[in-house]
Amino acid sequence: MEAWSFFSSLWILSLCLFIIYGGANADPLEDKRALLEFLTIMRPTRSLNWNETSQVCNIWTGVTCNKDRSRIIAVRLPGVGLNGQIPSNTISRLSSLRVLSLRSNRISGEFPSDFVELKDLAFLYLQDNTLSGSLPLDFSVWKNLSSVNLSNNGFNGTIPSSLSRLNRLQSLNLANNSLSGDIPDLSVVTTLQHVDLSNNYNLNGPIPSWLRRFSSSSYEGIGIIPPGDLSIFQPPPPLAEQTHQKQKDHFLGLSETVFLLIVIAASIVVVAALAFVLAVCYVRRNLRRGDGIVSDTKLQKNKKKGGMSPEKFVSRMEDVNNRLSFFEGCNYSFDLEDLLRASAEVLGKGTFGTTYKAVLEDATSVAVKRLKDVAAGKRDFEQQMEIIGGIKHENVVELKAYYYSKDEKLMVYDYFSQGSVASLLHGNRGENRIPLDWETRMRIAIGSAKGIARIHKENNGKLVHGNIKSSNIFLNSERSGCVSDLGLTAVMSPLAPPISRQAGYRAPEVTDTRKSSQLSDVYSFGVVLLELLTGKSPIHTTAGDEIIHLVRWVHSVVREEWTAEVFDIELLRYANIEEEMVEMLQIAMSCVVKAADQRPKMSDLVRLIENVGNRRTSSIEPESKPKSENEASEASTPSEI
Ligand SMILES: *[C@@H]1O[C@H](CO)[C@@H](O)[C@H](O)[C@H]1NC(C)=O
Ligand SMILES: *[C@@H]1O[C@H](CO)[C@@H](O)[C@H](O)[C@H]1NC(C)=O
Ligand SMILES: *[C@@H]1O[C@H](CO)[C@@H](O)[C@H](O)[C@H]1NC(C)=O
Ligand SMILES: *[C@@H]1O[C@H](CO)[C@@H](O)[C@H](O)[C@H]1NC(C)=O
Ligand SMILES: *[C@@H]1O[C@H](CO)[C@@H](O)[C@H](O)[C@H]1NC(C)=O
Repeated sequence: MEAWSFFSSLWILSLCLFIIYGGANADPLEDKRALLEFLTIMRPTRSLNWNETSQVCNIWTGVTCNKDRSRIIAVRLPGVGLNGQIPSNTISRLSSLRVLSLRSNRISGEFPSDFVELKDLAFLYLQDNTLSGSLPLDFSVWKNLSSVNLSNNGFNGTIPSSLSRLNRLQSLNLANNSLSGDIPDLSVVTTLQHVDLSNNYNLNGPIPSWLRRFSSSSYEGIGIIPPGDLSIFQPPPPLAEQTHQKQKDHFLGLSETVFLLIVIAASIVVVAALAFVLAVCYVRRNLRRGDGIVSDTKLQKNKKKGGMSPEKFVSRMEDVNNRLSFFEGCNYSFDLEDLLRASAEVLGKGTFGTTYKAVLEDATSVAVKRLKDVAAGKRDFEQQMEIIGGIKHENVVELKAYYYSKDEKLMVYDYFSQGSVASLLHGNRGENRIPLDWETRMRIAIGSAKGIARIHKENNGKLVHGNIKSSNIFLNSERSGCVSDLGLTAVMSPLAPPISRQAGYRAPEVTDTRKSSQLSDVYSFGVVLLELLTGKSPIHTTAGDEIIHLVRWVHSVVREEWTAEVFDIELLRYANIEEEMVEMLQIAMSCVVKAADQRPKMSDLVRLIENVGNRRTSSIEPESKPKSENEASEASTPSEI
């Protein structure tokens, strides 16, 4: 026996060693070194979490590895404030790189000649920088190139005819540069779906017929200026440059004040004009479609317009001072613009605002909450965000970033594809419903209890969640409950009842949202437990249109000693859980008592609920399986593994 345990511990030890060392070795060390050298020279203004001692794959901001983690295949650093020339022999060492996005930075200098080493490159995004000089002569070294965007830079010289040898090229954008000479024949590139050569005023006309097949905006501003008149018709500098210009002015001395004043005056005129246009549009839209959701689709609208929509322009102006603030260790790489440009879908309208799912260019999905009626000033808001963002716990949905400006307050969270506990419990009740099993309900209860208990420890034990309900609870990767949307009551304008969206969860003593306390959190949590047990919404209507308050209903049923009637019929298929259900019901009832001071503390609840769960796993382990006939027959078929 002892020998056995000795060997087994040896085995476990070696497994651990394998995980520690083997895991670290799986990191692409050479690629990592190259990126660190790149970073040291480029000095981004946004701090990246690229730490020599941490793993690269899945952790470093903007970096993606291949499946076996042997190479880096994508680097995406849009708008992180990279400065200066790309140092040679850094990025080019990532010889398996397929995606390179360094757009919207302040990269200068020529197109790095050593990029020829990046033979696998398929997506190249260097737009919105200040690169200059000529384009690489031989594009055919990148056989896999499918999308190239070098727009809004200062490239000059001719468009290389070698582009015609890229037989996978789908999208080519060279707009807003200073390219000159003849337009090469790209008609042989049959894969090409999108071309933009606009605003290269020195390109020779006439427009070739292959280019005319694309939208006219892709050849606007080509060859229309007679030589000699160039000085009058200089193309306007790209907007990105203007913004950077403004940022620089910010730090310049008094000698630039006059210029600065002109810029400000001009900006005010532009903003005022845009505001007027916006106001007119807004009024017209509301006249057409009625009030409501429309104004919330602002995020969505941006994706449709290719160009600079007014909103985006305004937020760019604000962006000089108000940036998306990321929390440390966050490995997202996007900026406010990406967010505004992302395709957005309304996930739900909550007590404090509307939540969207935004899909970013690199296919990351995030949940963005647009707060309405924030009462706190910038400083208080930021302080509260820092408290919320500082909570790192597996049962609390992590706040990744936030944004505060006069008109817009955003919070960015991870997106949970499985939907909320509310949708798992109440959604799709009907034929195609997948029942939510008891095991999962218990994990939801334990997880969210731990999450809330953790929240209650924050800010010297004073932080209040303030908005606990099943639509704010999600399943984390361990399928355990994970709570979201916390700590907002402190920064929002007080909402007095009827706060319909929160109604069924609101403790009786809470007369407006600011009066929420940790004990009212306990009440709301109790309602969630009742939801898990009964499968019923906190407020629902009966067939006879009678409005039923879940807490009152459970009270009345229990009083009549029909306890068994309380439970969700869906749970009746699981064997040997009655006792646990009754225990959970008692715990839930203790949370929803009227007198706040008689409710248990969150930390006690964690212990109580864990006890219910533990007893099961130690006594009647395999029994909480479904006992339906299907399952039974399936279980009896011998399966080969
Ligand atoms: C890198 O991580 C280590 C531990 O993980 C930490 O001690 C160190 O301060 C970090 N370095 C930087 C530059 O963040
Ligand atoms: C291009 O892509 C293909 C698969 O899509 C891959 O097999 C090949 O190694 C890539 N690189 C080059 C240089 O063709
Ligand atoms: C391109 O611009 C560079 C300066 O950035 C200049 O030296 C060079 O002569 C220009 N080339 C052409 C073809 O205009
Ligand atoms: C390329 O960059 C420009 C400028 O940022 C942008 O408008 C355009 O959508 C990008 N993509 C393509 C496919 O051209
Ligand atoms: C080129 O610049 C113009 C004006 O600044 C802008 O409207 C247009 O969207 C830019 N084109 C691209 C592809 O970014």
